[in-house]
Amino acid sequence: MREKRLFLSPPFVGEAERAAVEAAFESNYVAPCGPMVDNFEELMVEVTGLPYTLALSSATAGLHLLYQELGVERGSVVVAPTLTFVASVAPAVQLGAEVVFVDSDPQTWMLDPALTSEALKELRAVGRHVAAVVAVDLYGQCCDYDELEKVCATYNVPLIIDAAEALGATYRGKAAGAAGVAAVYSFNGNKIITTSGGGVLASRNSELIKRGRHLSQQAREAVVWYEHTELGYNYRMSNIVAAIGVAQLARLEEFVARRREVFSWYRERLSGCSMIEWMPEAEYGVASRWLSVAQIGGELGQMTVSGRPGTIVERVWQALEAVNIESRPVWKPMHLQPVFAEAQIYGGGVAEELFLRGLCLPSGAAVSVSDVDEICEIVIREIGR
Ligand SMILES: Cc1ncc(COP(=O)(O)O)c(C=O)c1O
Repeated sequence: MREKRLFLSPPFVGEAERAAVEAAFESNYVAPCGPMVDNFEELMVEVTGLPYTLALSSATAGLHLLYQELGVERGSVVVAPTLTFVASVAPAVQLGAEVVFVDSDPQTWMLDPALTSEALKELRAVGRHVAAVVAVDLYGQCCDYDELEKVCATYNVPLIIDAAEALGATYRGKAAGAAGVAAVYSFNGNKIITTSGGGVLASRNSELIKRGRHLSQQAREAVVWYEHTELGYNYRMSNIVAAIGVAQLARLEEFVARRREVFSWYRERLSGCSMIEWMPEAEYGVASRWLSVAQIGGELGQMTVSGRPGTIVERVWQALEAVNIESRPVWKPMHLQPVFAEAQIYGGGVAEELFLRGLCLPSGAAVSVSDVDEICEIVIREIGR
């Protein structure tokens, strides 16, 4: 049993981040604006290839602004993958919209373009207004942007990319998120690059970012006194937080290489394990392997789709927990969540199986070869070769 817990995706910060925070202190911009925020936004332009970026307090805030700008409201629908984290859709529901869920493509685990097309066709046929499709780049892999853009163009629906988990991944040579009308990125503590907490909204559309910036600053009008013609939010990123991000972004390539390396250690050590199947890397891109995610085959024991993952996954996860190592089931699909009990779902079986069989293993620059050795020994002990 380790004294110090091995987390699933711990932050990896050091002297460079400390120095950047000190520089922010020195400048006395201990505020939700300042040179580090500007610098962070410029660096995100370089990293994403998207010319307009807006630093925010979280990716969830970015999605909220984006949904509002796209007219997501009562009476409208947002189409989203069922296999995701709730933050992808919560702001749309909070704006009054209905979410219609779509299953994953079994080849990539990402939003299925053919099923998305079917959903859009049927929703149009019954006269529903679809305000947006949100595609989620899960676990450091991009969705099939070209296919989803085609589908969305056919039905004239804006495509947005929730790239919260995918900074550093690529799609046909383009950066994760460089598709559709806009993308969000997360810098939460467990992400590949962290600012402790934060997000960026990025787009090719300058107006969209300009308006997002306005709304993120309490929609204050550009006059000396406080003048408001509408209501906004306090969603800006702090200059101190941005300083951490500036130092971290300089290491993005190194971090992607390291996450891919950690994944290769797992794959090598568990290569003889017939029960293990890794998250496929789609032919159209390079995944960052933000998390190393496996599906564990074999008998599922009592399948309790609505409640919890399969018993095999649970056994491994508890064995790791017993030695103070964190692992997690794959996202529980949204259509199985009590809060979405009434939601419409297209397909669903792929995501359900991934939830029952999927396990996320510790990943990141803080994970060592000996950590992976120990984890793999436990996995083999629990499920055999
Ligand atoms: C797919 C996905 N979307 C959105 C978010 C929300 O990001 P944030 O925590 O920055 O609001 C996360 C993770 O936190 C996520 O994994």
